[in-house]
Amino acid sequence: MRRNNTPYFIKRIFNALNRFYVKRFIAPQFDRLGEGLEVAHPRSLVIFGRNIFVGNYTQIIAAPDNYIRFTTWPGKRRSGEIHIGNYCLISPGVRISAAQSIHIGDNCMFAANVYISDSDWHGIYNRIRPFRCTKPVVLENNVWLGESVIVSKGVTIGANSVVGAGSVVTKDIPANSIAAGNPARVIKSINPDRRMLKRELLFKDADHYFYNQDQLDRYVLGKNSFWNWIRSVIKPNHYD
Ligand SMILES: CC(C)(COP(=O)(O)OP(=O)(O)OC[C@H]1O[C@@H](n2cnc3c(N)ncnc32)[C@H](O)[C@@H]1OP(=O)(O)O)[C@@H](O)C(=O)NCCC(=O)NCCS
Repeated sequence: MRRNNTPYFIKRIFNALNRFYVKRFIAPQFDRLGEGLEVAHPRSLVIFGRNIFVGNYTQIIAAPDNYIRFTTWPGKRRSGEIHIGNYCLISPGVRISAAQSIHIGDNCMFAANVYISDSDWHGIYNRIRPFRCTKPVVLENNVWLGESVIVSKGVTIGANSVVGAGSVVTKDIPANSIAAGNPARVIKSINPDRRMLKRELLFKDADHYFYNQDQLDRYVLGKNSFWNWIRSVIKPNHYD
């Protein structure tokens, strides 16, 4: 696709259907869900298990070819838990799997294909029984994980820290650090005194944010005609 031929009013219908789907089929699967959840391609968000808690204004961008999966497994004594804070951004292919507990703070951003788990799922000497070797994972506020980062069991990543693309985090990362590599090591520091724009700023006036998103759609798609859109679906050409 070279351009989006969808007419503005069709996009609004799709958005309304999307919101309906999220409310009817996605929201009930969480144990707690704040306001303002946005899910792109909600049928590509797969939730398995209980004790999944999501805060306000979380954006989940699933894709039909790259599902997002939140999984908690029931243990002998209690189920795994996933807590996601407010204003988080979750990209296609992210998988969060908890056998014990994974706590994610506010304003966190996960790029595509991030994998976070608090368990090795099997023991080194006992490979037939599942859910061995679990340790809680904590991501403090405003952590940014780059593309395809893996966060292993028992790790705490401090507030504001960034983990470089493709890194494997096996040990704690202090706050205000940039870490990268396999295993991830601190390569730089972030100046905590510098003003940082966090995702929560987007939703300071949430109505205004959603209005702006709608105006952007109107600006980009407003001139698209219905019949040209139908034609582009049935018989696409070089310009579609
Ligand atoms: C971590 C990151 C932010 C650092 O950017 P930066 O501050 O410009 O870092 P630099 O390019 O100056 O690199 C500093 C050093 O770290 C190394 N490094 C940077 N990113 C690395 C990574 N992902 N893995 C391993 N080493 C890395 C560099 O090779 C360099 O090493 P050197 O000092 O030996 O030359 C960036 O490299 C990154 O990975 N961003 C993630 C982008 C992403 O996934 N975006 C998805 C959309 S949300």
